[in-house]
Amino acid sequence: MSDRAVAEVVDITPGMGSEVANLDLRDLSSFSQHWLADLLARRKVLVFRDQSLSRDQHKAFARVLGELHIHPSNRQVGAKGDPEVFAIRTTENSRYANGDAWHTDVSCEEVPPLASALYVRELPGPSGGDTVFADMTRAFATLSEPIKALIRSLNAVHDGRKDLARYGIELKAGQSYPCATHPIVPVHPDTNEEILFVNPSFTDHILGVSRSESDAILELLWRHVTDDPRLHCRVRWQPGTLTIWDNRSTWHHAVWDYFPSSRYSERVTILETRRPRR
Ligand code: SIN
Repeated sequence: MSDRAVAEVVDITPGMGSEVANLDLRDLSSFSQHWLADLLARRKVLVFRDQSLSRDQHKAFARVLGELHIHPSNRQVGAKGDPEVFAIRTTENSRYANGDAWHTDVSCEEVPPLASALYVRELPGPSGGDTVFADMTRAFATLSEPIKALIRSLNAVHDGRKDLARYGIELKAGQSYPCATHPIVPVHPDTNEEILFVNPSFTDHILGVSRSESDAILELLWRHVTDDPRLHCRVRWQPGTLTIWDNRSTWHHAVWDYFPSSRYSERVTILETRRPRR
């Protein structure tokens, strides 16, 4: 393929994350769907620098991998703007920064999204506002065998209201938000690798065990991921950077270290068609 010849792929860490140079994402004929899907499944986080994308070009790039997701808050009656674009603005007046906690995007959906492509249109300054990712395939692989055996058979409830509560948001009458049950250890639909598929923002509890057992198991898993920097990869944004992540096998955390400066980004999220399964 011509895309293999032109694109230069430089890994950010041995395990996950790659910078991909020499591709203009406006030119959809310069790479194939298969090449992009394969690289994303293997490297999990792809960083494209020096892009110049309109909203429509951003969406057209994401559509290479599938249909676009509409965020639950954009589905609410009265939501403004382009429903396929999740706009994230943080200013000195913000009470919180969206994404400023470890999470997997809307894992509360019945079929959680395949990937998200984020384009930061306004940076807070020469530094600040990085996004940190965690590799949830390696997170599962590095658990001990007894813990792997314990969680392999369990399911967990992912509740969108838990995520909203972090921001102090309660649903109003007539509003709804997704809530879904998923296996804790599904296999990645493209690589067949086992993934640790729970996250602190959306996963509320594990089914079939007591609440205190659930809390203890989840706390163990959160510490396993957050304490080990070998599971992490940090993306520093520059003007014109687009980053796409595999939402099935990663967590991410948008670092709010730039108050009182502002940051504005637009996220386009791609639907998965296959439910998480063991
Ligand atoms: C997100 O949480 O999806 C956005 C990440 C970011 O703003 O860096």
